Amino acid sequence: MKYAIITGASKGLGASIAKRLIDEQIALVTVSRTENEELRKYAQANNVSYQHHSCNLSNEEEIQEVFMEIAHSIFQKNPVEILLFNNAGVIEPIHTVGSLDQTPIIRNVQVNLIAPMLITNLFLQQAKLTNTSVQVINVTSGAATRPIHGWSIYCSSKAGLNMFTQTVAMEQAEMKTNNKIMAFSPGVMDTEMQEIIRTSSKEAFKEIDKFKEYKEKNILKHPDVVGGALVDLVLSGNYESGKVYHIKDLLK
Ligand SMILES: NC(=O)c1ccc[n+]([C@@H]2O[C@H](COP(=O)([O-])OP(=O)(O)OC[C@H]3O[C@@H](n4cnc5c(N)ncnc54)[C@H](OP(=O)(O)O)[C@@H]3O)[C@@H](O)[C@H]2O)c1
Repeated sequence: MKYAIITGASKGLGASIAKRLIDEQIALVTVSRTENEELRKYAQANNVSYQHHSCNLSNEEEIQEVFMEIAHSIFQKNPVEILLFNNAGVIEPIHTVGSLDQTPIIRNVQVNLIAPMLITNLFLQQAKLTNTSVQVINVTSGAATRPIHGWSIYCSSKAGLNMFTQTVAMEQAEMKTNNKIMAFSPGVMDTEMQEIIRTSSKEAFKEIDKFKEYKEKNILKHPDVVGGALVDLVLSGNYESGKVYHIKDLLK
């Protein structure tokens, strides 16, 4: 049996990925602070195994406790393959450096970068002890490779995630494991994250008008379209470990 773990499946891209995996009959474990009840019902209606774990990904003790429990319950079932989607992310704080509060800086790096590092480490450790292959999908952003005014923390945490992905891929290739890891840049999507971006100010975020226009001109992609393209790529197995994939390359 194949299992998928998705962080941040309560809404946005994570919920779309989860729905699509249910359509593919893949057993699902979701992790976020709140549960998406519709997802549970959708899994039940489609006879797909579904578990939700509540976890604050900015808290390393909760991560350790929750993901040890998940790993324990999944690896003992000898799954054919485990798909791990590190999707949860936060955009805030949005402001120029020198005007930021300390707590949101730390929370951003914890959710966007440290949590994927800890979870990937734990799962690759467990994979070593069994005959299971793990595929890790880290959801990144175009902001990882382009400095954006007011987004220094987000740009930096996503840039770190890209480098983490590339380094892990290199190590796994050298160790000749069956594990693969990729980063995926979903482009601008119509989710709550974009709502938060639009509520900031011009002083905090110079490009705000452009982002308001994305919404007005219907440029934001529906997360179902983006999630579907990502799941197609992952299930095809036809991707290069260590590479950063962009949605624009998948929807050509
Ligand atoms: N939207 C875009 O235009 C865009 C563009 C480029 C990249 N991305 C990336 O795509 C991914 C998904 O973004 P989205 O737009 O779908 O965001 P979203 O709608 O804001 O959803 C974010 C998800 O992350 C979870 N999350 C946030 N903080 C958490 C925490 N402390 N602990 C546990 N879970 C937490 C949320 O769950 P709970 O609140 O229930 O905990 C939610 O399910 C993110 O990595 C984002 O950086 C988005």
